[in-house]
Amino acid sequence: MIQFFNVSKIYAGEVKVTALEDVNLTIEKGEFIFLVGPSGAGKSTLTKLIIREEIATNGQVMVDGKSLARMKQREIPYYRRNIGFVFQDFRLLMTRTVYENVAFAAESVEMTRTQIRQRVPMVLEMMGLDQKRNAFPHQLSGGQQQRLGIARAMVNNPTMIIADEPTGNLDPETSSEIMQIFQAINRRGTTVMIATHDKAMVDKLRQRVIQLRGGFVVRDQKNGGYAE
Ligand SMILES: Nc1ncnc2c1ncn2[C@@H]1O[C@H](COP(=O)(O)OP(=O)(O)O)[C@@H](O)[C@H]1O
Ligand SMILES: [Mg+2]
Repeated sequence: MIQFFNVSKIYAGEVKVTALEDVNLTIEKGEFIFLVGPSGAGKSTLTKLIIREEIATNGQVMVDGKSLARMKQREIPYYRRNIGFVFQDFRLLMTRTVYENVAFAAESVEMTRTQIRQRVPMVLEMMGLDQKRNAFPHQLSGGQQQRLGIARAMVNNPTMIIADEPTGNLDPETSSEIMQIFQAINRRGTTVMIATHDKAMVDKLRQRVIQLRGGFVVRDQKNGGYAE
């Protein structure tokens, strides 16, 4: 369970930017959540607080009752292993094959060779990429590249998947295919959080919707649509 208690995030630069303000949230294990709101609303910041890439300026982010702000530096990599992250721009290793992209992610979390040999083919099959294992990313369609991004995020069997605008670079049909993959992942018990502008998708899937505006949560609705 993830809890936000009166969380604010202020980026201190030349000008101070309040990216999130007084956010209170509870995310239960196994939930499917859309995070919506215009550009600059604070969606990415909220996801970065969860993976502890950023720390709350005020308030507390708690994971299973533990404060992320108090987590020790050496504990952070282990904590992050429970969370798979999917990016809008895929962030694949372009000089590595499909198989190597996923294996590389597995190696970075110190899986054993035996585990890697079992797990990589398994997630590639799950994502429908087993026929493409020796292809390079540029030989894949946009949808296949994002499926590879998801395979990489799933290789460690995380309890949660966070995707920041995962369909932002994809056409509607391919987006729909990617969303079905997230639904399938969620059905197997993984918590899914997707920051998105994809109105059609949010309206179609009718999941919990957390809407941000100017750093505030302005709506938190079960079975919601993109707009009120
Ligand atoms: N590293 C940063 N330093 C300064 N300001 C930032 C930083 N990251 C985000 N911001 C600002 O915080 C606000 C929220 O940004 P962000 O969380 O990226 O929103 P979204 O993902 O909804 O577009 C914006 O005003 C943005 O410019
Ligand atoms: Mg963003």
